Amino acid sequence: MTEPSNQSSNIAASLPPWRALLKGARAREGRQPTARWLQLATTGLDGTPRVRTLVFRGWHGGDRLELYTDRRSAKFEELVQQPNVELCWLLPKAKQQYRFRGTWMRQEQNSNTQSWQNLTPRGRALWGWPAPGQPLEREADFPEELDDSVAPPEHFVVLQLQINRAELLDLTRHPHQRILWCRHDAWREQQLNP
Ligand SMILES: Cc1cc2nc3c(=O)[nH]c(=O)nc-3n(C[C@H](O)[C@H](O)[C@H](O)COP(=O)(O)O)c2cc1C
Repeated sequence: MTEPSNQSSNIAASLPPWRALLKGARAREGRQPTARWLQLATTGLDGTPRVRTLVFRGWHGGDRLELYTDRRSAKFEELVQQPNVELCWLLPKAKQQYRFRGTWMRQEQNSNTQSWQNLTPRGRALWGWPAPGQPLEREADFPEELDDSVAPPEHFVVLQLQINRAELLDLTRHPHQRILWCRHDAWREQQLNP
């Protein structure tokens, strides 16, 4: 995890305002693994939409969201062609939906070892499986765990998504509350009709 600790008030003060709201909403979910599930939408190579669930892995600085994926997956090729994405994150207990628009920031894959080590052996195992989305071969090996001694494979990718626009829909009040923040506008809060 690269989420900054809140011990540093300087860091907290410089965070985009939606980060504190999102943190509060995540806290309402407790230790539910589902609280870290979000949907990532990309553009398919044929220009039509693609969406799937990923696990939120943490923040890099105030406004870069981290995900882990497999370089061999379709989404990686899609990001190479079109790095603009949308994310949708539903926090059901808080009755809040966050929608983020962002851009994949290509980077040197040198910080991967720490991220790989932070995964559990079961979490790592998926990267030991054959290429996702390819036809299933009967003889293929699908390990249940990869232990700490296994180096991060070349196809283990940490995606950093630079968030440029954040939108919250909060269903807890009447009327519902809809707030927009844009990075180019210094994350100034703008209330919208729900
Ligand atoms: C709860 C849940 C969590 C998932 N987490 C991840 C993840 O963190 N990274 C990932 O690449 N795929 C994850 N997947 C699998 C993706 O949803 C998707 O099936 C896979 O990445 C292949 O997508 P693609 O063919 O569009 O590239 C998860 C699926 C589920 C249901």
